Amino acid sequence: GWSMEQYIEEVRASLGQRVGANPVLLLISGGVDSTVAGALLLKTLNPDQVHLMYMDTGLMRKNETETVRVNLERLGAKHLHIIHCENEFLSALKGLTDPEAKRKAIGDLFITIQEREVTRLGLPDSYFLAQGTLYTDLIESGKGIGKKAHLIKSHHNVGSPLVDAKRKAGRIIEPLDRLYKDEVRSLGRILGIDEDVVRRHPFPGPGLGVRILGEVTKEKCDILRDADAIYIEELKKRGLYDEIWQAFAVLLPIRSVGVAGDVRKYSWVLALRAITSDDGMTADVYPFSMKDLLEISTLITNTVTDIGRVTYDISSKPPATIEWE
Ligand code: XMP
Repeated sequence: GWSMEQYIEEVRASLGQRVGANPVLLLISGGVDSTVAGALLLKTLNPDQVHLMYMDTGLMRKNETETVRVNLERLGAKHLHIIHCENEFLSALKGLTDPEAKRKAIGDLFITIQEREVTRLGLPDSYFLAQGTLYTDLIESGKGIGKKAHLIKSHHNVGSPLVDAKRKAGRIIEPLDRLYKDEVRSLGRILGIDEDVVRRHPFPGPGLGVRILGEVTKEKCDILRDADAIYIEELKKRGLYDEIWQAFAVLLPIRSVGVAGDVRKYSWVLALRAITSDDGMTADVYPFSMKDLLEISTLITNTVTDIGRVTYDISSKPPATIEWE
C-alpha cells in the first residue's frame, strides 16, 4: 500500500532538488491542510528556510491564534509571522450587511494585507510560495466544477496576484497535491500534529464574518466566539464531535425578549448547526438526542449572557447551504 513515510521521503527528495537553499513561504490558515503543509515543509526542508505567515483577522475562533502559534512552534517553526489585522478587517466590514459585499471586503483585504506583509518580509525574489492544495482542490478548480469551488478557495489559493505572479515565475510548490483529505490527516498524524487539529471540522476562509448575519462588530465576534467554543467543547466531551462533519454556531441579527431574574431582557438569538456529509456538497442534519441539545442550549444561555435564545437549524443541503451566508 501507499505509505505516508514513503510520501515524506519523496517530498524531501523532490522539494530539496527544486527549492535548494531558497526561502519558502507558506500562508497558514490554521486549518488541517495548511498546518500539515507547514509541518511537511519543516520536516523535509531546513526549518531556517521556512517562513510561515498567519493573519489574525479578528474573525477567527476562540484562542485560535494562540493555538496556531503553539502548534507550529512545537513543530519546529523558526520564522512564524503572525499578522494582527483585526482592526483593519473590522473597519472594512463596518456598515456592511450584504453577504456578498462582506465576502468581497474580506477577500480584498486578505489580498491587500498579504501583498503588504510579504513585501515587508523582504524575502529575495527567488523565494518559493507553498500552498496546501489537495488533489481534490486541483480537480475542482481545474475543471471548474461549479462556481462555488472557485469561490471557496478564492482568498487563499486561486485569485491572488501574489499567487499568480509566483505561478508565472514557476515558483509555486504544492506538497499535498497528490493527497486526499483522509490521507492528509494520516500524514498530519505521522508528522506529530495534534489530534485536535487533524480532526478539526472545516472552517470557511471568511471565518466568523459569514457566521454573524448582518453587520460584523467586535462585540458580536466576541459573543459568537464564546458561544461557539462552548458548543464545540460540549460536542467533544459528549463524544459527538467526530460523528459530525461540521458544527458551528451562527449569530442571528435578531434580538428577542427574555427574562433575567424578574427583569425583561432583550438579547441575541443564536442558531446551532451540525451536519453530516461526505464532501460538503450535500449535507444532512445531525440528529441530536433532545437531551444533548437542551443541555447545550442551557449551558450557552447561562454562560453567554448576551444570548437569550438558542435555535437548532434543521435544514439539509440542499435546499439550505451549510453556512448561513
Ligand atoms: P456551503 O455553505 O456552500 O459550504 O454549503 C460548503 C463548505 O464550504 C465551506 N465554505 C467556505 N470555505 N471559504 C471557504 O474556505 C468560503 O467562503 C466558504 N463558504 C463556505 C463551508 O464551511 C462548508 O464546509
